[in-house]
Amino acid sequence: MRVFAVSDVHIDYEANAAWVSSLSMSEFQQDVLIVAGDVTDTLRKLAWCLGALAKRFRKVLFVPGNHDLWVIRDGQHKNSLQKFDEVAAVVVSSGASMETFHEKGVTIVPLLSWYDYSFGEPDDELRAVWMDYRACRWPAGYTEKDVTAHFSALNQSVKPNGSKVITYSHFLPRLDVMPSYIPSVSRKLYPVLGSARLDRELRSVKSTLHVYGHSHVNRQVTIDGVTYVNNAFGYPNETHIAQKRLVCIHEC
Ligand SMILES: [Fe+2]
Ligand SMILES: [Fe+2]
Repeated sequence: MRVFAVSDVHIDYEANAAWVSSLSMSEFQQDVLIVAGDVTDTLRKLAWCLGALAKRFRKVLFVPGNHDLWVIRDGQHKNSLQKFDEVAAVVVSSGASMETFHEKGVTIVPLLSWYDYSFGEPDDELRAVWMDYRACRWPAGYTEKDVTAHFSALNQSVKPNGSKVITYSHFLPRLDVMPSYIPSVSRKLYPVLGSARLDRELRSVKSTLHVYGHSHVNRQVTIDGVTYVNNAFGYPNETHIAQKRLVCIHEC
């Protein structure tokens, strides 16, 4: 059994959806695929994508990203927590899973999260341009910290039982997974990249391999005993930071 990882497939781009359709129907039937969020904010398309992947893999494991929880095209009355519930139902009906997966000495644990400004406070410019501030809606009074705490409380507790633990999240668990070449203009996004809480959570379940998405910057780096992997597919023009292929992260 091989474990593959990808994130940020963003299938609203036709070229990205075509890549999903082009994946082999036979090659991965014994394998697991982690999809670490940002597929689409359209539930019908999410069902199509996860269903297409579920036909190709033995198991597809998913967590929603920020784009999956956008409600900007869903009318005025839905909030992003309600959207989360709808996404969770689509995950199940399309044959994918957001549950902890155990098999062949491997435990794969989803970690829900949001960004909570533990990587820095957003400035006025970021608040003006970051789409989530307009495309997501939260219950009255919810701050980003509350959203992160809400999703964190949904995470399943896992007792390390001697198996290899792999965790995955959409958001970044620490800022130093970002490579040093990132220009200062892009670093303005750092406050909305993730949460330090995630790193505490993945270490509390004894993870040694963590998959994350969201930055769209492909990377593999080991820090204090944990290997962090980003294999975002990314937007069509992001060929310089995204390799646009499946990556096998574990084999057993
Ligand atoms: Fe993304
Ligand atoms: Fe994202």
